[in-house]
Amino acid sequence: MYNQTISFVGGGNLARALIASFRKKGILGSKIVVSNRGKEKLLALQSDYDIVPASNIEAAEKGDVLILAVKPQDLQEVSLQIRNAVQKKNPLVISLAAGIDEETLNEWLGSDLSIVRTMPNTATLIGKGITAIYANSRTTPSQKELAESLFRLCGSTCWVETEKGLNLMTPFIGSGIAYLYLFVEALESSALKLGIDPAITREMALQTVFSAAEMALETKDPLHQLIGQVATPGGVTEPSLAVIRSGGLFESMDEAFQIVVQRCENINSEAPSSQPE
Ligand SMILES: NC(=O)c1ccc[n+]([C@@H]2O[C@H](COP(=O)([O-])OP(=O)(O)OC[C@H]3O[C@@H](n4cnc5c(N)ncnc54)[C@H](OP(=O)(O)O)[C@@H]3O)[C@@H](O)[C@H]2O)c1
Repeated sequence: MYNQTISFVGGGNLARALIASFRKKGILGSKIVVSNRGKEKLLALQSDYDIVPASNIEAAEKGDVLILAVKPQDLQEVSLQIRNAVQKKNPLVISLAAGIDEETLNEWLGSDLSIVRTMPNTATLIGKGITAIYANSRTTPSQKELAESLFRLCGSTCWVETEKGLNLMTPFIGSGIAYLYLFVEALESSALKLGIDPAITREMALQTVFSAAEMALETKDPLHQLIGQVATPGGVTEPSLAVIRSGGLFESMDEAFQIVVQRCENINSEAPSSQPE
């Protein structure tokens, strides 16, 4: 299955995370072709993972699977640049870009392409990512299987039936990991203010989040029950939880999710339509 060449256009954070997992799970460096705007990241990827560096057009010419890993605002320029090569090669196109829908991408790249859109997160770097996947109607069952199997090398996957569904998953999967790191920073910051040794705060804060997640997964107990085991009536935690709740944690999270979904929807509607030539 992985005899096919996988090309990346864009070699930034997420491409690096995917490449790290692909290489760790046995995909040969010679089967991974990468292009990037700046040379520095490309050389670092070549040195770390033995990938084949290329120009954008070369990457599109070679890739049986073409992973578009540039920011949404750079996707149109890149697509127009590689469209002739893409039309000739007719690869399975996998877009990582938030918000740009398959119809727009199909228009930029030519037409009649099998396009899979994904929303992964950066934990793909350690093979523990989560990726939501959407495939357009031209994607064949074997192409779907290929896309899913590639992202399974990087963690777990879930399919969504619509592009709207992918937008809804974006704050949860793509951004959620950043919200949790922010929460860890808050734990750490409060610990430091109490004078707890800075040498141990980061690790203890991360370990607290890790063990909490592991315990919830292992016991399968409802979260309110696990919270109740800590915040016993009359105990020290109970009044502090009330403070956190009244500080608007849930409302802030709702707002954060709405902002991301809205941003995804706006990216696409703001994208200029293009009919080159
Ligand atoms: N990071 C996340 O957690 C996350 C999660 C889900 C989805 N995504 C999506 O994944 C995609 C990549 O995100 P990222 O975080 O990896 O961004 P990133 O680190 O900024 O990587 C984007 C890369 O694209 C390169 N690039 C820009 N214009 C180019 C061009 N014309 N030709 C070739 N390469 C070009 C940039 O090169 P230079 O830096 O050299 O200019 C950069 O290395 C985005 O579409 C994003 O929406 C990201």
